[in-house]
Amino acid sequence: MISTKIADLINHQIAKEQYAAQYYLSMSAWFYAQDLDGIANYFRVQSKEELMHADKMFDYLVDVGAEIVIGEIPQPPHGFFSAKEIFEKALEHEKVVTKSIFNILKNANDEGDFATVSFLQWFVNEQVEEEANASQLVAKIKMVSDNPSALYLFDQELGQRVFKPTEGN
Ligand SMILES: [Fe+2]
Ligand SMILES: [Fe+2]
Repeated sequence: MISTKIADLINHQIAKEQYAAQYYLSMSAWFYAQDLDGIANYFRVQSKEELMHADKMFDYLVDVGAEIVIGEIPQPPHGFFSAKEIFEKALEHEKVVTKSIFNILKNANDEGDFATVSFLQWFVNEQVEEEANASQLVAKIKMVSDNPSALYLFDQELGQRVFKPTEGN
């Protein structure tokens, strides 16, 4: 049986994942406005992945019979300055999410809620990947942002990303 405290933390995490989705969608919109549709596509896929994370947690709460409370999602930032700024913010945000997931994990572990510990393992691995990708993209955007032809190729590269809903299973 899941405790109210852990259920609460996961309920809040659902809203955080949905906030991340909105944040990435806002980033995507900025890139569309700059005619960098490939990078815009990357963030759009990223946004869908975050919604999938929220769904995964929702399903878990259903499975363990916890009370689900859908939270409020704050408005994400908009009106960014540069591509580099966005990639840096994306990395920063992933780090915040990682900390938040670790916090739930720590609480679940302290309570001996090993079902939640096991459930969250997928997210721990996912965050390692998310941070690695985000930090690689920060490095890449620094290389290409002042060079239009390199930026063009980078945009093409990120335009290849496709959303795979099955990756979350
Ligand atoms: Fe996520
Ligand atoms: Fe993420």
